[in-house]
Amino acid sequence: MEAIKFENVYFKYGQNEAPVINNLSLTINKGEYVCMLGKNGSGKSTIARLMNGLLLPNAGKVTVFDYDTLNKETIFEVRKRVGMVFQNPDNQMVATIVEDDIAFGPENIGVKSSEIGERIDFALDATNMQKYRFTAGQKLSGGQKQRVAIAGVLAILPEVVILDESTSMLDAVGRKEVLSVVKELNKKGITVISVTHYMDEASLADKIYVIADGQIAMQGTPSEIFKDASELTKYGLELPKSTYIATKLKENGLPIRGDILTGEELAEELCKLFQKI
Ligand SMILES: Nc1ncnc2c1ncn2[C@@H]1O[C@H](COP(=O)(O)OP(=O)(O)O)[C@@H](O)[C@H]1O
Ligand SMILES: [Mg+2]
Repeated sequence: MEAIKFENVYFKYGQNEAPVINNLSLTINKGEYVCMLGKNGSGKSTIARLMNGLLLPNAGKVTVFDYDTLNKETIFEVRKRVGMVFQNPDNQMVATIVEDDIAFGPENIGVKSSEIGERIDFALDATNMQKYRFTAGQKLSGGQKQRVAIAGVLAILPEVVILDESTSMLDAVGRKEVLSVVKELNKKGITVISVTHYMDEASLADKIYVIADGQIAMQGTPSEIFKDASELTKYGLELPKSTYIATKLKENGLPIRGDILTGEELAEELCKLFQKI
């Protein structure tokens, strides 16, 4: 089933400005985990905002579970289905206490107050934040704040969660926390679209889109995308660390697999290699 579909989409920010999204077509299926990579200014955030009707195409069509985002009568259906988590963990809380913050989304879309407690429970469990239910937001770490932001989105029971560089202001621990929550959500069937500049994160996705000048420059599975470092550098990207190390070892004559993506895979290959020596 198609979750999000772009058909020949164009978008420009001002009447007299050049389009920043140029004839973009793509389909993201329900349940997929998709990453968008690309240089600053390539159009990733604009694409993310077109995906939930925060921005509307000037030409072409964006459909979200078959709802055309240009149709004003059903834009509510789109917003309910697609939740967004942004970059800055400090700008996303609307209430002081975690539980009130999470209640805000469902209240806003008219969920009955008798159901809101259940939604908060679900969202806190899914993000592993239950024990911070009554904590003040300002006492939380960056990673915890982003988990609250994700919980707030989950409380509207979305089908798609978009993360726009949501880990880029976090330390390594915070990134790990958020990533593991996101992976779990995807396992439960939620479609995940993640904009990131961490290649290690992108290597976890089912599919990667490399965006340049508001168009798709490359698309494929992580192993397809990370096969060719020289192609990637054109778009300001590099290989995931483990892939880079494996490539260098191979270039230096070690018989090592060419399609390593993660640290675990690299460690496994190296162990096998040492056993042979
Ligand atoms: N609110 C805005 N008004 C005018 N131009 C914008 C606005 N937001 C982004 N742009 C321009 O649109 C292009 C794409 O930006 P953006 O989608 O934010 O890229 P990315 O998220 O990949 O960094 C850039 O040239 C940027 O300067
Ligand atoms: Mg951006």
